[in-house]
Amino acid sequence: MQKPTIAIIGPGRAGSALGRALHAAGYTIAAIGGRNPDNVRNLAEELDARACQSPATTIDVADLTILAVPDDVILPLATDMVESLCSAAGKSAVHLSGAQDRSALRPLAQQGSLRTGVFHPLQTFRRGPEAVANVAGTYFGIDADPKFRDQLMQLARDLHGYPFDLSGVDRALYHAAAVFAANYPITLLAEAITLAAQAGVDPETARLGMTTLLGGAVNNLRGLEPADAITGPASRGDQGTIQRHLDALKKDPELQRLYQLLADRTRELTPKKKEDAA
Ligand SMILES: NC(=O)c1ccc[n+]([C@@H]2O[C@H](COP(=O)([O-])OP(=O)(O)OC[C@H]3O[C@@H](n4cnc5c(N)ncnc54)[C@H](OP(=O)(O)O)[C@@H]3O)[C@@H](O)[C@H]2O)c1
Repeated sequence: MQKPTIAIIGPGRAGSALGRALHAAGYTIAAIGGRNPDNVRNLAEELDARACQSPATTIDVADLTILAVPDDVILPLATDMVESLCSAAGKSAVHLSGAQDRSALRPLAQQGSLRTGVFHPLQTFRRGPEAVANVAGTYFGIDADPKFRDQLMQLARDLHGYPFDLSGVDRALYHAAAVFAANYPITLLAEAITLAAQAGVDPETARLGMTTLLGGAVNNLRGLEPADAITGPASRGDQGTIQRHLDALKKDPELQRLYQLLADRTRELTPKKKEDAA
């Protein structure tokens, strides 16, 4: 299958990481478009691409345009892109959002032969060049018509990723799941660091120690189900320890309620392990 040339609109976290990974995988990055001229120029220079200061015009420069912009910008940008489109022949466009379906690109889908789809990296990308390290091994949720879907599946495999079908999947629920997996553990980590510092641990040690602890928990998950990987008082049934934690959290009733809810859900998780073993 011939590799399409690529344009990326939005040299932010996801757009830069995918741009760098596609370039390393042998794809031609024909253009970078976006809002901030410096960000556009810097990534374009790095990837030997043309810098397009008017984002909508990038669609005429490449076979496949990736809209790597915030979710709420996808539809208005797709609308602007229609205005700039010279020819739809052989062109395709995807967005990277897990929360939005293909309808966010409907102004483009209405342009004759122009193919549209969703290419959602089920991954978390930080700012900066280090983010590219997360691309390999990523699961990519894909929603597109069959022929275009095959091309996007190949794109995911060329990135050393694992494509899967997102058609018919409830996007809001799917994306809420992704947020639970990738974002809220970090919110909980921030609470943990604050609590450890309040308890009297030196703040920098609290940050490094708690972050290393989370890293250990994630390592334990490799090759194990959550019910088998989890440790701690709720999974052991140490009710006395849980009560001491709840007492210690009295000054922050919201956090105390959150702790209780998580302890209850953790208890519900562990019996499954015992039933499975029986
Ligand atoms: N980051 C992740 O971990 C991740 C993972 C999976 C999927 N995604 C998806 O990827 C997409 C981008 O997310 P992100 O996290 O990469 O966001 P981000 O880091 O904020 O980057 C967004 C990019 O879009 C540009 N932009 C914003 N408004 C624009 C506009 N009106 N016209 C043109 N360009 C505009 C920004 O320009 P500036 O350069 O001026 O800021 C920036 O380059 C979203 O759909 C998100 O759901 C992200």
